[in-house]
Amino acid sequence: MKVLISDPISEEGIEILKNAGLEVVYKPGLPYEELLEIIPQFDALIIRSSTKVTKEVIERAKNLKVIGRAGTGLDNVDLQAANEKGIVVMNVPGGNTLSAAEHTLALIFAIARKIPQAVASLKEGKWEKKKFIGVELNNKVLGIIGLGRIGSIVADRALGMKMKVIAYDPFVSPEAAEKKGVELVSLEELLRRSDFITIHTPLTKETYHLIDEKAFSMMKDGVYIINCARGGIIDEEALYRAMVSGKVAGAALDVFEKEPVDPNHPLLSLENFIGTPHLGASTIEAQKTVAIEIAKQLVDYLLKGIIRNAV
Ligand code: NAD
Ligand code: MLT
Repeated sequence: MKVLISDPISEEGIEILKNAGLEVVYKPGLPYEELLEIIPQFDALIIRSSTKVTKEVIERAKNLKVIGRAGTGLDNVDLQAANEKGIVVMNVPGGNTLSAAEHTLALIFAIARKIPQAVASLKEGKWEKKKFIGVELNNKVLGIIGLGRIGSIVADRALGMKMKVIAYDPFVSPEAAEKKGVELVSLEELLRRSDFITIHTPLTKETYHLIDEKAFSMMKDGVYIINCARGGIIDEEALYRAMVSGKVAGAALDVFEKEPVDPNHPLLSLENFIGTPHLGASTIEAQKTVAIEIAKQLVDYLLKGIIRNAV
């Protein structure tokens, strides 16, 4: 059986597939047109976030039995089309949770203390002590939108930094939140009370542009915004306006509505904006875990019919 891997994954996962006797074709960064052309040859497809598994791809896939996501988010897969064709879609839900949470914390520290801007200035030979005055996190209110796997770890670490943590998540009970040391509030209350707002929901019809013009208008002046979940949850044009007006003191995005980001994206021109190119899961540990786990899941399904983490 043939497995196509169309995004970069760790070598350890590829070895598991080969050792199980599967033929592996490794083509990270495969262009969409080429994917359409070669997909009929394959029994399995392994992806991360770059490959778009559209209805068109699924329609062309004559032999495809399983799609494996080496990671969490499945918004780049047409799940309904896969389902209708009987193709199993699997992911590795917890494999990169810790890395994504730690990246979120790194971005919180980075915007609070203007670290990337100060490093860039230092490297230009400047010594601008007055320009880079930051804020402490101690006693600040952190608003978490989405108290799932990643949101909960962010909450735990933020409590250690002595932040006051509140969260909005319609699928979590106040008791469950309380056990994590978190006060569950409505979205409006979170927007009104938070000094820092971090997003950890999936991208769905309900969360698309959840943070829009109206949401920004409810926030405190000088709020900081972090998004390590999915592009599209924040309306980027509204964020730009809120940053220019001074409502938002700083923003850090790891994810964008269109990736890779256009180098002329207006947000990139703002001094108080920082971003990373979807690096939340990019650690040696997380990449090894998700590659090994998705490879094992695929082998178990293709050779033994065992299904794990199907969605
Ligand atoms: P999860 O499913 O464990 O948690 C998501 C939480 O969001 C759940 O508790 C759910 O109840 C809540 N939620 C759903 N709809 C909501 C809504 N409308 N309003 C508020 N809350 C809502 O997911 P996770 O593993 O914590 O991942 C969270 C996000 O992070 C996903 O979008 C995932 O794709 C993304 N992610 C990004 C990276 C990265 O590299 N930046 C890495 C891993 C995961
Ligand atoms: C995920 O949802 O797991 C992230 O997008 C991480 C990734 O694969 O880059």
